[in-house]
Amino acid sequence: MPTKLNIYVKRYLRYVEYLLRWLILEKPRGLDFSMRAKSAISIEGNRGYALTSRKAVENILRGLPIGKGDSFLDIGCGKGGVLWFGSAFPFGRVAGIEVEPHLVEIARRNMQVLHLEDRIEVIAANAVTFEHYGEFNFFFLFNPFDAEIYRAVLTQVFSCLAARGDADRTVWLLCYGDSNAAVIENSGCFELHRNETCPYRGNSVRIWKSKVGCHWGRASAAPGAALNGDSARSQAAGADVIADDSTVRPNSAGPGESALLTREGNQSHHHART
Ligand SMILES: C[S@@+](CC[C@H](N)C(=O)[O-])C[C@H]1O[C@@H](n2cnc3c(N)ncnc32)[C@H](O)[C@@H]1O
Repeated sequence: MPTKLNIYVKRYLRYVEYLLRWLILEKPRGLDFSMRAKSAISIEGNRGYALTSRKAVENILRGLPIGKGDSFLDIGCGKGGVLWFGSAFPFGRVAGIEVEPHLVEIARRNMQVLHLEDRIEVIAANAVTFEHYGEFNFFFLFNPFDAEIYRAVLTQVFSCLAARGDADRTVWLLCYGDSNAAVIENSGCFELHRNETCPYRGNSVRIWKSKVGCHWGRASAAPGAALNGDSARSQAAGADVIADDSTVRPNSAGPGESALLTREGNQSHHHART
């Protein structure tokens, strides 16, 4: 069991590592992936930006059956690091959605600097109301939002998949850090393909694979559930999930929030955590 001091020391060293990486490897090239972004949060339930490392992404994608017919979407792509790392795999399409305009701008600039703008799309969108999930079959989520929003997003994903109605296509949910396992399980459409701890950061990795022939009917009406509590466990292991001290709460409702909160009746209350 790691002591509190250990956790703080590890976290401090990680911030130093990120700062050095940004100063030495990114800033001179006009890139910006590593620095955390905690300010200017405009949307309810947003936990702020942090990067999933290349090694962690490769660990997740390695061994999965990826080909030209597959499309990858990072839900809450931040500055686009996962898109960059994921684009090395043979996906036919790689895209991310991001709700914070300043992060969208940084992600697009990063892709231009890397000359990946033709390979990678950065879409400015709220994950709760995004209507094009049906175009993708690999969904990556790194600890992007609180439990309620997580449920609303999964419900939206499932209803887009139901609208597409392709029961033969395999869909993968790649959940890194906190996730909403109960909603995924209750959908009846997924089986847990891998359940492990990231060897690099200690975060939970849950990879869900859709069951053959799922028609998404029950899934698209997924009931609510709380987060699985990985946050506390991962932090205890010195993980890079967004820590309690850095979890960001919006000060005010941002554009689109009222739509987000009223889309479904039971989403209309604000998150209770303080
Ligand atoms: C922890 S960061 C992960 C960034 C990136 N996926 C990675 O792993 O490196 C979560 C991102 O989700 C974004 N986000 C939060 N709520 C969102 C929403 N409702 N719609 C779209 N993006 C959202 C945040 O702004 C943040 O950039």
